[in-house]
Amino acid sequence: MKTLVIVAHPNLDQSRVNKAWMNRLQQEENVTVHNLYAQYPTFEIDAEKEQQLLLEHDRIVLQFPFYWYSTPALLKQWQDVVLAYGFAYGSEGNKLHGKEFMLAISSGGPAEAYQAGGYNRYSMSELTRPLQATANLSGMHFLPSFLLQGMMKLTEERLQESTEAFAAYVTNPTLHN
Ligand SMILES: Cc1cc2nc3c(=O)[nH]c(=O)nc-3n(C[C@H](O)[C@H](O)[C@H](O)COP(=O)(O)O)c2cc1C
Repeated sequence: MKTLVIVAHPNLDQSRVNKAWMNRLQQEENVTVHNLYAQYPTFEIDAEKEQQLLLEHDRIVLQFPFYWYSTPALLKQWQDVVLAYGFAYGSEGNKLHGKEFMLAISSGGPAEAYQAGGYNRYSMSELTRPLQATANLSGMHFLPSFLLQGMMKLTEERLQESTEAFAAYVTNPTLHN
């Protein structure tokens, strides 16, 4: 099982979570870490190259900080140009069929804010519906998301714990559900 982790963070130098997650995953065999903003600083995504990468892997992970209840802009651009007609959808667009698809998201707001009655009102499952629908349309199996939430109260210890848990989950999601 080969896993591709697409990391989309516009400022990894100042990141705590995504940088730690990314560095940890680089130690894993059978995991390809793909740093999207480093690869495409001018947003000119090479769609063919990205599609080739997807074809070479069985499990696709999108890793990103939650920005305005969604993905950072480059990851949206990636979806728009890479998940093309005839590749990801359409009558012959079956290239992603059967792959596993997972989100790994850090959010500033804490978990309790993401529910009915919380200050962000909606759950992460509700807010990630467009990506769930994308996985569905392209025939991928949507796995439970890996989340780390609440940056204000994030201790070094909790970050380390999450980083190890992330590496374990990404390489073997079935053990964790
Ligand atoms: C432009 C921008 C938009 C953000 N939008 C949200 C948001 O909608 N919800 C949220 O919980 N946090 C939001 N945040 C906070 C980030 O999600 C948080 O800083 C990030 O996940 C921390 O990860 P890092 O240490 O890898 O940077 C936003 C931050 C920025 C800079």
